[in-house]
Amino acid sequence: MIQVYHYSSSALPTVRNLTPPSLSSPTGCHPSFSFKPKLLQSTRIRPIRSHCMLHSRNNSSRREDRWSLRGMTALVTGGTRGIGHAVVEEFVGLGARVHTCARNDSELSRCLKDWDDLGFEVTGSICDVSVRHQREALMETVLSVFHGKLNILINNVGTNIRKPMIDFTAAEFSTLMETNFESIFHTCQLAHPLLKSSGLGSAVFISSVSGFLLLKSISVQGATKGAINQLVKNLACEWAEDNIRSNAVAPWYIRTSMVEQVLGNKEYLQEVYSRTPLRRLGEPMEVSSAVAFLCLPASSYITGQIICIDGGMSVNGFYPTHD
Ligand SMILES: NC(=O)c1ccc[n+]([C@@H]2O[C@H](COP(=O)([O-])OP(=O)(O)OC[C@H]3O[C@@H](n4cnc5c(N)ncnc54)[C@H](OP(=O)(O)O)[C@@H]3O)[C@@H](O)[C@H]2O)c1
Repeated sequence: MIQVYHYSSSALPTVRNLTPPSLSSPTGCHPSFSFKPKLLQSTRIRPIRSHCMLHSRNNSSRREDRWSLRGMTALVTGGTRGIGHAVVEEFVGLGARVHTCARNDSELSRCLKDWDDLGFEVTGSICDVSVRHQREALMETVLSVFHGKLNILINNVGTNIRKPMIDFTAAEFSTLMETNFESIFHTCQLAHPLLKSSGLGSAVFISSVSGFLLLKSISVQGATKGAINQLVKNLACEWAEDNIRSNAVAPWYIRTSMVEQVLGNKEYLQEVYSRTPLRRLGEPMEVSSAVAFLCLPASSYITGQIICIDGGMSVNGFYPTHD
């Protein structure tokens, strides 16, 4: 049975100490905006057991500890479908408690119910991460649910608009920049105190091969992913002293709702296969396992890296096509 909680943001613990200086863009800063964060959670919430000592700088050498997220807390944005959904399930399978968000209320409720039926400890709240006030409300909820400590931040949400560069309108450009990059930049600022408080933090970004390589008709999306790739490296250095690692995964085509339409074109799909040495699409689980690895104590010396999950597409170079 799912319990649905409605909080007004004033009822939640303050995030005064978490609020970074305002970004210059007015995106999402609508003074009249009256979003009330809604916390949806399963009934099986237990107090957090902190394993910070266990997973501290001097990692335990026990294999079962190095390959476990037991006692850790994670925020996964966009966890109701595709890669985010797979990451949520991967994390709970490894022992973490997860909070996720999405815009669609009924889809989120359905996912939470399914997870509750499976005995997974997942909470969720409605949030459009492209809107600044909603990001702040999301982080207030996370602060409350996890009692101020967050081990893992997965910046998963991203979108795409496909068209030649010259045809982008100002509104389309802003939508992509706000959803794919500004939201992530600001969420990282908001999450930093919680990640630091956990004593062992990890941020993973879902980038794309488009951040390195030319892909057809996605110049703006590619630029946002390129910006993410650089942010990953900056944070790896800036946050190292707080014991927070920063890494990314860069997928090629993964079978999710986002790419259903474009891959519905048989000719295009054949072109995709012909450039992919493994000659198939990736599955969300093939991304979530790499994301989980980057959060595990097993990867404790890896930071500032971007791992391509692409069936070999990014190294294909001047090689005959894989027809
Ligand atoms: N699939 C691929 O081939 C591929 C390749 C390279 C990179 N990626 C990257 O992987 C990430 C996930 O993509 P996906 O293919 O898994 O997408 P997807 O199947 O479309 O799922 C997107 C998820 O994010 C949520 N979401 C979307 N916009 C949101 C917003 N503004 N605020 C909050 N939640 C939002 C969606 O729920 P709601 O709609 O209810 O909000 C849904 O849960 C993206 O960053 C994408 O760029 C994907």
